[in-house]
Amino acid sequence: MPAGTPTESVSEPGSGACPCPYPKLESIVKYLSGLRQRADLAVLSSLLAQVDITRCDIAPCCNFGQKGYKRNTISASPWYELLALCWRSGDYTPIHDHEGVSCAFKVIEGVGTEIRFRHTPSGLICPAQVVEMTPGYICAANDADIHQVTNMQAPGQDLITLHIYSPPIRQMNVYQFASRVSDECAAKYAATTGGSPASGLPC
Ligand SMILES: [Fe+2]
Repeated sequence: MPAGTPTESVSEPGSGACPCPYPKLESIVKYLSGLRQRADLAVLSSLLAQVDITRCDIAPCCNFGQKGYKRNTISASPWYELLALCWRSGDYTPIHDHEGVSCAFKVIEGVGTEIRFRHTPSGLICPAQVVEMTPGYICAANDADIHQVTNMQAPGQDLITLHIYSPPIRQMNVYQFASRVSDECAAKYAATTGGSPASGLPC
């Protein structure tokens, strides 16, 4: 499984009527559980801005994957999902958009990197901006926004982000611009273009 492939877990709610086991998230879950339509993106950003939590506050749902970031569901309904995403160094999403889904997230711990892309007339997408996301940073993605989120920190430095999607993501459009090819593929390319970097490999 590639490092960009997420794994998932679902938190068990605590006892009692509250659908959320984390007191500091109670008000946000109360709002979200009342949704009967797609949430407004600005409202989601505002809700996240009011949340003041650390890793300790949501420790039971801060679970990491073995390969790739892990999506830990805190609370969900047909109209939203609230998740803690946990990223080890080197974890990353595919390049994707958010068609049909309001998406906002907040950095809880660590520094994330968001790479934003834009369409070009050629049909290829082009990196347009790199954003270093420190704790407290809120990212809100519109439907057509194309981006990739990563933990580019050194090994041992985790990234934890709190995400709201409305409605929950069932599928997303993913993109590929360019990625490093395998050694085998590179060798074949070198063979067909002359064999040495000086005689044909791209600059
Ligand atoms: Fe995204």
